Amino acid sequence: MVSKCNLASVLGIFLVLALFQNSITVSGQNVPVVALFTFGDSNLDAGNKQQLTQTLVAQGFWPYGKSRDKPTGKFSDGFITPDFLAKSMRITNEIVPALKPNVNVSRGASFAVADATLLGAPVESMTLNQQIRKFNQMKTNWNDELLGKSLFMIYVGANDYLNFSKNNLNADASAQQAFVTSVTNKLKNDITMLFNSGANKFLIQTLAPLGCLPIVRQEYNTGIDQCYEKLNDMARQHNEKIGPMLNEMAKASKDFQFTVFDFYNVMLRRMQNNKEYRFFVTNSSCCGVGTHDAYGCGLPNVHSRLCDYQRSYLYFDGRHNTEKAQEMFSHLLFGADQNVIQPMNVRELVVYPVGEPMRDFWVPQPLESTVSSLESSHGYEDF
Ligand SMILES: *[C@@H]1O[C@H](CO)[C@@H](O)[C@H](O)[C@H]1NC(C)=O
Ligand SMILES: *[C@@H]1O[C@H](CO)[C@@H](O)[C@H](O)[C@H]1NC(C)=O
Ligand SMILES: *[C@@H]1O[C@H](CO)[C@@H](O)[C@H](O)[C@H]1NC(C)=O
Repeated sequence: MVSKCNLASVLGIFLVLALFQNSITVSGQNVPVVALFTFGDSNLDAGNKQQLTQTLVAQGFWPYGKSRDKPTGKFSDGFITPDFLAKSMRITNEIVPALKPNVNVSRGASFAVADATLLGAPVESMTLNQQIRKFNQMKTNWNDELLGKSLFMIYVGANDYLNFSKNNLNADASAQQAFVTSVTNKLKNDITMLFNSGANKFLIQTLAPLGCLPIVRQEYNTGIDQCYEKLNDMARQHNEKIGPMLNEMAKASKDFQFTVFDFYNVMLRRMQNNKEYRFFVTNSSCCGVGTHDAYGCGLPNVHSRLCDYQRSYLYFDGRHNTEKAQEMFSHLLFGADQNVIQPMNVRELVVYPVGEPMRDFWVPQPLESTVSSLESSHGYEDF
């Protein structure tokens, strides 16, 4: 009887301890209070273009936003990647468009604008450089400590290459290389400017396989299931420069921390092994007209086709992903391993101590053919 009693109380104590311990880990994961800032083009635009132009924008109209009731000026059938990523980062505020008056920017904002470029002067848009200047004008909203530990996400460059390709159809290899060099040099200057403005933690996405965007396949008449390889080549050349460039910046300053999301191969894998990733259509859009249903989604004077089930599509319109795909990207950003995002994922980057030099750097990936199904075969999405 006595021993039973003892056993019960011992078990009871263990139980209480176990529960207590659980509640400690659940409630106190040491999630730092940080903000999320996004810069770049339409993929990260939370509604800024709408603020910049007098004309009506397609993304302000149905069926944009159809999975979430109403259009918000975002290029998706619903939420975009930063919305999901912010949730993972325990940011309860919406990532608002910085150019919209009277929004609460306390936990970050989107400075990205549709049509943004690195070079040139985009019409009714802003270059990355102009976006960073805008950020500097608004800096009184955040204290230095918050900025130092917050995440700065950048996706830009696609419009530079799309524009180059359109205007220089017959550019030879050396002209292409020269253009890639000027674009990536500008990117480096702009990131340096943002770093000097108080940003420490950078999340840079490589460019998607631009030649496989439905709108590009359609406009260049690539034919059934072909991509426009010239644009893919330029995107690859651009992407190859990103990691080494950021390594150099991190080695030059202990406060500079970064990670690179291998968006190019994330997209390619979904096009090559679409069923494994549960996409049924990856070569044309859910919404639009043309051979690849890639043009005119949301435009009032265009009779766009709209797919029945957007969650089976990789692309919602001619160049932007469905909400389903964007939610997947956010999971990869937050928790995937080094085959997808390196040298660390966002979960690791936001807790990496500020001012602590990086010890792991970006390294070149094995050839595409050998990584084509790494993500799924190793369960990287099942974290
Ligand atoms: C902005 O959001 C923060 C964090 O959610 C909140 O504490 C603050 O009260 C909000 N500010 C305004 C003016 O609503
Ligand atoms: C597009 O290319 C043309 C011709 O090269 C150039 O003049 C223009 O500035 C570019 N536009 C943007 C926004 O980069
Ligand atoms: C898209 O891919 C499917 C399946 O491979 C193919 O049947 C279809 O013809 C392709 N569509 C276009 C426009 O390339």
